[in-house]
Amino acid sequence: MLSGYTERESLDRVFPPSHQFLSKPCPKDVLVSTITNALNSRNLLRGTGLRALVGSITRLPSLPEIYRQVASEIAKDEPSMERLGAIIGQDVAMTARLLKLVNSPFFGMTRKILSPVQAVNLVGINYLQSLIMACATFDSCEVSIPGYSLRRLMEHSLRTSCASAQIAALEGVAAEARDEYMTAGLLHDIGKLVLATNLPEAYARIIATVQREPRPVHEVEMEVLGATHAEMGAYLLRLWGLSDSVVDAALLHHAPCTIEPSLSPSLAVYCANVLDRELVVINPGYHRPAIDDVYLQRSGLAPRLEAWRAGLEKICRRVEGDEAQDSHS
Ligand SMILES: [Fe+2]
Ligand SMILES: [Fe+2]
Repeated sequence: MLSGYTERESLDRVFPPSHQFLSKPCPKDVLVSTITNALNSRNLLRGTGLRALVGSITRLPSLPEIYRQVASEIAKDEPSMERLGAIIGQDVAMTARLLKLVNSPFFGMTRKILSPVQAVNLVGINYLQSLIMACATFDSCEVSIPGYSLRRLMEHSLRTSCASAQIAALEGVAAEARDEYMTAGLLHDIGKLVLATNLPEAYARIIATVQREPRPVHEVEMEVLGATHAEMGAYLLRLWGLSDSVVDAALLHHAPCTIEPSLSPSLAVYCANVLDRELVVINPGYHRPAIDDVYLQRSGLAPRLEAWRAGLEKICRRVEGDEAQDSHS
């Protein structure tokens, strides 16, 4: 939606919720890239069962108002940290949620972060924006499928995010370029939320199958739904205007043979996801994938796997230590 009228709530009463909202005046390049993204999301629907699946979904999550305000501040020529802090601070519940997250052992901060401005400075605004997106999406989803936990999925997403950024750091990627790795890790399984929320009965069947038989979830999703959470997530992230590398990482995170064999957010998220599944038992009895050695050899990064695994082990120990402390306090 492109409008000169900025009262979003009034607009939502008149028009059905839109996935992206642009205020006038809108810079030409922002308008062009937004339309290109929307058209590309349609390309994802070609030639797969995803088209039928998207058609059967009545409610795709939409982005919260605070996300839009942050995005429009970032798009300015000179975004202000103070204004960004003030925008986030307006939403008290989201601020509390974000501060709790950035102070959690996942991020290993050496000092306590007390305000949105500090969070923006330390975590970076792009990643904080992705955290807002993830928190709002998780909060808007309600799932009551036996054996399925949104809390565990969020924790897996956070570990994958931190591990993916750590892989980038270990391989010498500059700090400002690591945001994409973190964001891609954080959002890689977001399609699961959409499927479990919109198709609870079919998804309950999928979960029951993978609890009974040690098969990958995405394989059973394809059988039951004709598409996977990876495709669904990529479609949604494209619709929301995320970058190609974040969309690709979500789309390809179970298919290493389709990922370029060189360091990228897709490669890092693929490895971080598998390593997390190897080190943390998210659901006992579930199929646990293994790294595709042939693919990693081709990338020339196979000798680095041990260092990446050790990095994630460190994150897991930090989180476990904190949980143990919590249970004794
Ligand atoms: Fe996945
Ligand atoms: Fe995953």
